[in-house]
Amino acid sequence: MHVVRTLSELRTCRAALRAPLGFVPTMGALHEGHLSLVRRAHAECAAVAASLFVNPAQFGPGEDFARYPRDEARDARLFAEAGVTLLFAPGVEEIYPPGHATGVRVAGLTERLEGTHRPGHFDGVATVVTILLAAVRPERAYFGEKDAQQLAVIRRLARDLALGVAVVGCPTVRDPDGLALSSRNVYLSPEEREQALSLSRGLRAAEAAWHADVRDAGSLRERVRREIGVQPLADIDCVSLADASTLQELEGRVERPALLSLAVRFGATRLIDNVVLEP
Ligand code: PAJ
Repeated sequence: MHVVRTLSELRTCRAALRAPLGFVPTMGALHEGHLSLVRRAHAECAAVAASLFVNPAQFGPGEDFARYPRDEARDARLFAEAGVTLLFAPGVEEIYPPGHATGVRVAGLTERLEGTHRPGHFDGVATVVTILLAAVRPERAYFGEKDAQQLAVIRRLARDLALGVAVVGCPTVRDPDGLALSSRNVYLSPEEREQALSLSRGLRAAEAAWHADVRDAGSLRERVRREIGVQPLADIDCVSLADASTLQELEGRVERPALLSLAVRFGATRLIDNVVLEP
């Protein structure tokens, strides 16, 4: 595996890779969720590139940019073992040199759900992903359904900016007890982690109700809230049932594919999870 730090080295090494090239952007602190994307890319592509960049532009003031877990040596080893041939690990100045002035904003989609709780977050994601896709020029790029709104935003920008990349969504990887893997899970105390299991439990309860023909948006959200609300350390930011393609909040009877998603705080740690309900 080649590790490169500059855009010019990246372009040189990229030119030697066979097509189709798969690309997996990450912020590191790798877990099985990230590695599932790499393995999928490895299975579908002739070569795999990954990036490791903790993107300051997508963290709000007071969020965890400074303390975000960083361990490049471990990440590099895991990437190499999973089949990455080219790793791009730039410094902040390489991506945002002095004078950097251009941003990418996906209107509409980013103003809903997480966008209302984390202003500017998706602009930071859209901008860095556009820079990375333009620099790597992969045929296919892999993203997790765990970050469902992020995936929708990236699909939109790839189409709108005609980047010529196939955006591939991959299923959420969970611990055997149901907790969705996240680099932020390391912040949880054992007690918080135990109570965080209510997130997937709540989603599963709503999903079971959905399969038992409960179609009322309010009742479905309520099933989720009921599981999580009783956990003393859990502070619910949002439980949403939204149209899976527009992300508009749904009311009344639900007849279309719907994204049931949530964000819950445990102290300073904010966890998200979701499930798609298909009619
Ligand atoms: P990061 O949180 O490191 O996640 C990198 C990729 O791994 C994203 O596509 C994310 O959806 C996916 N992922 C995370 N947890 C997962 C899980 N449990 N199962 C499956 N996939 C999972 O998301 C980002 O970084 C950044 O916003 C980024 C896109 C790199 C832009 O900075």
